[in-house]
Amino acid sequence: MALYSEKVMDHFRNPRNVGIIEDADGVGEVGNAKCGDIMKMYLKIDDGVISDVKFETFGCGSAIASSSMATELIKGKPVEDAMELTNKAVAEALDGLPAYKMHCSVLAEEAIRSAIDDYNSKINQGKAPEK
Ligand code: FES
Repeated sequence: MALYSEKVMDHFRNPRNVGIIEDADGVGEVGNAKCGDIMKMYLKIDDGVISDVKFETFGCGSAIASSSMATELIKGKPVEDAMELTNKAVAEALDGLPAYKMHCSVLAEEAIRSAIDDYNSKINQGKAPEK
């Protein structure tokens, strides 16, 4: 059996939603201290729904595939649903990751949570209109 699923290879080679959103409502950046990989997530939120999402990942292939899949899973979904996205769900959607690469999918989960936290804190500080 191949080490990586076809889906992992597809999202690694053709990552979806790569880039930045200049006027993002929430931005989250996380890193893994051990491998040094970094992931940045940008969210555009309208009426409590994630209308757009983009990411930049400076990291391994599994981290790129995980962030790509994670953006597909949350695009068009309510913020509450995105908050509940787990790294396990991301890995399952990719038809699995090798055990020693599961931590790469954790970055995607954390980056999304961090971006949503940023959005929520802006709302609480009155910097962003509640949408
Ligand atoms: Fe660092 Fe994959 S090895 S995120």
